[in-house]
Amino acid sequence: MANPEFAGRVAIITGASSGIGAEVARTLSKRGAAVTLTGRREAPLQTVAEEIRAEGGRALVVAGDVTDETHAQDAVSKTVAEYGGLNILINNAGVIGAGSIEETSTEEWDRLIDIDLKGPFLFCRAAIPALKRAKTGCILNVSSVTGTRPYANVTPYCVAKAGVDMLTQCLALELAPAGIRVNAINPGVIVTNLHKATNTVPDYEKFLEHSKTTHPLGFVGEPKDAAELIAFLVSDRARWITGVLCGLDGGRQLASAR
Ligand SMILES: NC(=O)c1ccc[n+]([C@@H]2O[C@H](COP(=O)([O-])OP(=O)(O)OC[C@H]3O[C@@H](n4cnc5c(N)ncnc54)[C@H](O)[C@@H]3O)[C@@H](O)[C@H]2O)c1
Repeated sequence: MANPEFAGRVAIITGASSGIGAEVARTLSKRGAAVTLTGRREAPLQTVAEEIRAEGGRALVVAGDVTDETHAQDAVSKTVAEYGGLNILINNAGVIGAGSIEETSTEEWDRLIDIDLKGPFLFCRAAIPALKRAKTGCILNVSSVTGTRPYANVTPYCVAKAGVDMLTQCLALELAPAGIRVNAINPGVIVTNLHKATNTVPDYEKFLEHSKTTHPLGFVGEPKDAAELIAFLVSDRARWITGVLCGLDGGRQLASAR
């Protein structure tokens, strides 16, 4: 590509071994960004990194858990050492859990809040000094329709994602004077391992068919739908957009408001 959109830009993507995170990493790399892939398991991260390198991209792997503040700091330090700076942080890692509030153990509550909400906080805090130096810094948080609408039997996940939405808006205000944009996307169902983990019936295909009926456009999303929106929001084309909670859901939020 003669002049790729993200040439000279560096991005960290958390939870980059699968689903939305892996697709975003591939998309930004194809458009010229150098990427750091983080996640708990080294082997699947290396698989995505090798795929990116085979296409001529630059990919660094820093394995670790998003709930570990040392890992967040390490991911930023290694990225800056390898590439000379950091322009984009994408907080994508996440897990979901299902069950009534009475069935939710304290450990399960803590696990979801720690991974889905504390993780983005730790990575934002670690990345902000480098993002300030970059001048074009931005943060993109992968939230969910569950951040803006209540759903029964997924309370800790909804609470964590609502927290991510507020984190996004508070940091957008706080970091605007430094020229750092902070946005979130709020997807409906996207076919990934995480969606498969929410399967409540023996046959996943039937579950998927049901999921389609809850989205007014009649189909569910794919990781590429999220990757396209994220690539736009972290690009200079979105230079005047900050603090948005951007729906990506085939109309699902409208339907759940009925
Ligand atoms: N798939 C959907 O329907 C959907 C809808 C709305 C929001 N989301 C959000 O999208 C994001 C990506 O999920 P996905 O759908 O691609 O599923 P996924 O399971 O493929 O990806 C989640 C990634 O996060 C990583 N991860 C989990 N816990 C971690 C931890 N403690 N430390 C580091 N990495 C960890 C996993 O290894 C995995 O790579 C999540 O934040 C999820 O909440 C997904």
